Amino acid sequence: MMEQKSLPEVSTFNCIKCKSTSSISSGRMRCSCGGLFEVNHDWTLFTPRNDLKKYEHHPSGVWRFKPIIHPEFPENEIIMRGEGNTGLYNASQRILDYAGCKNLLFKHEGENPTGSFKDRGMTVGISEAKRLAMHTVVCASTGNTSASLAAYASYAGIKAVVILPEGKIAFGKLSQAVAYGAEVYTVKGTFDLALEYVLDLAKRDGRYLLNSINPWRIEGQKTIILELLENLTWQPPDWIVVPAGNLGNTSAFGKALKEAQELELIEEIPKLVAVQASGSDPFVKYWASGEYKPEYNPQTIATAINIGNPVSHSKAHEALRFTSGIATSVSDQSILDAKALIDGAGIGCEPASASTLAGIKKLVDEGNILPSENIVAVLTGHLLKDPQIIIDYHQNQLEGVKSTFINKIKRYEF
Ligand code: F0G
Repeated sequence: MMEQKSLPEVSTFNCIKCKSTSSISSGRMRCSCGGLFEVNHDWTLFTPRNDLKKYEHHPSGVWRFKPIIHPEFPENEIIMRGEGNTGLYNASQRILDYAGCKNLLFKHEGENPTGSFKDRGMTVGISEAKRLAMHTVVCASTGNTSASLAAYASYAGIKAVVILPEGKIAFGKLSQAVAYGAEVYTVKGTFDLALEYVLDLAKRDGRYLLNSINPWRIEGQKTIILELLENLTWQPPDWIVVPAGNLGNTSAFGKALKEAQELELIEEIPKLVAVQASGSDPFVKYWASGEYKPEYNPQTIATAINIGNPVSHSKAHEALRFTSGIATSVSDQSILDAKALIDGAGIGCEPASASTLAGIKKLVDEGNILPSENIVAVLTGHLLKDPQIIIDYHQNQLEGVKSTFINKIKRYEF
């Protein structure tokens, strides 16, 4: 009998800790040494620049970059909802005056099918789950991942189980998870506790973990950067600013920029800014001190980024190191004021997303960003995700918060 030779794999899982390589067909999330996996593509086996052209008119803004995210995935097995292709908007003069800068654009990831950037990673993750014949997908969430997971799982005909920190999920997101038909559980405690439970749950056969520890989620989220660079005709800005919670996005952005340079799509590397809320900023402290310590009682009004033990902290550290970036934290007050300005400009976003503008203002004030530099802020979630906070802010009903840019609802008097 002839010996069957297996073809070289274009994509493999590489452990970021011990550097060993595993096959992507294992479906595993972590290396046996405990390190996180990262997808590695062998660029010598194909020609991404030419191949990209073939996907120019793909209906999904994620799979439009298939050669750079999952080159070998069978086209007819993709589960997609037309994610990506999000808008790029000019900041209003009022926003520019507030932040003290001249050139600021917002990339609006709230325009994805379920209202957040999570859909970009989810289309890749769910397609993988289906290919691996998983019967259930699971995640812990501060809200948006669970909304996205619930939608994509139902669309793919897979069961979804989500674990959420009780009382800490914005209403829009909780409603989505329930409406899309996920099995929803809550725990008393933080997101970090919910993640511990879900990591345990995912050990059981047939259950597939779709938190951002899943390397395919990161591959999908890389397309925020690839699409942005393409929008800008491959002329990168000086700065890209992103809110940071579990640090999946920061990691994905660093990987995307590194690969874009390797593929000669860009020459200069923009600097990444990861912004955390000051009550929930273990990564900012890690970046400043070099020593990583979880925050056991994270507190911020921006529930999406209320995370004390971000799972991707080492990947994100590498992303900031590679791009000569900055990690900074901003107060809840400044997040809500920045949000009122973004909302009032007709763009709108959820609180966590507005941390970007608050961070830009802080870094311009400190002299780290020059007023003339080109900046892109990524708005990660839609305004309607958290409607309660909008009414509370504009009715001046948030304890400890001053409604600086109030638009009070008034009774009409005849
Ligand atoms: N912005 C929004 C709107 C988010 O929902 C999240 C994370 C982030 C920013 C932070 O991104 O975790 O990649 O650093 N939300 C996760 C969730 C944790 O469960 O929905 P990150």
